Amino acid sequence: MSPTVPRTKRKLSLSADHPIPVKVRSSKINGRGLFASANLPGRRKLGEISGELVRLPAARRKVEQSDKIYLIELSERQALECSSGNSFRYLNHSCAANCYMRIIRNKVEVYTLRPIKAGDELTVNYGETPHRGGMRCACGAANCKGLL
Ligand SMILES: C[S@@+](CC[C@H](N)C(=O)[O-])C[C@H]1O[C@@H](n2cnc3c(N)ncnc32)[C@H](O)[C@@H]1O
Ligand SMILES: [Zn+2]
Repeated sequence: MSPTVPRTKRKLSLSADHPIPVKVRSSKINGRGLFASANLPGRRKLGEISGELVRLPAARRKVEQSDKIYLIELSERQALECSSGNSFRYLNHSCAANCYMRIIRNKVEVYTLRPIKAGDELTVNYGETPHRGGMRCACGAANCKGLL
């Protein structure tokens, strides 16, 4: 970022030099969620979900009775346990998600699927979850599948 450009004239661009313009706050979907604090472009990498590598299926058994699950399955044998990870752990599920997770080996990257307006909640599609018996989905989308 050029120090000679006045703050008001600076264009938002997401790069390694800029903090990702997202914030955690209360969500209508569930608990806390992650929200855009500026307009975000489509198809843009926002960052990586941090967490601890754990072994499956033991990790799945450990969380399947929990109300909130912070486990991302990477393969048949490994998962990322992100309950103490960065802000991306607050990504809620939507059946009409505006972001997606890209799994590359042991990394989980988060990208926007389309342009997102400042103030909108960022959501991903969890796919299948270990919630035993399923959890009622509160995403509110017209195409909601009903269960997580
Ligand atoms: C990774 S946490 C998401 C952050 C969570 N809202 C919080 O406050 O910490 C995942 C959990 O959030 C809840 N959740 C996420 N999306 C949901 C949805 N669409 N409907 C109901 N619960 C949801 C479920 O309990 C799920 O196991
Ligand atoms: Zn839904």
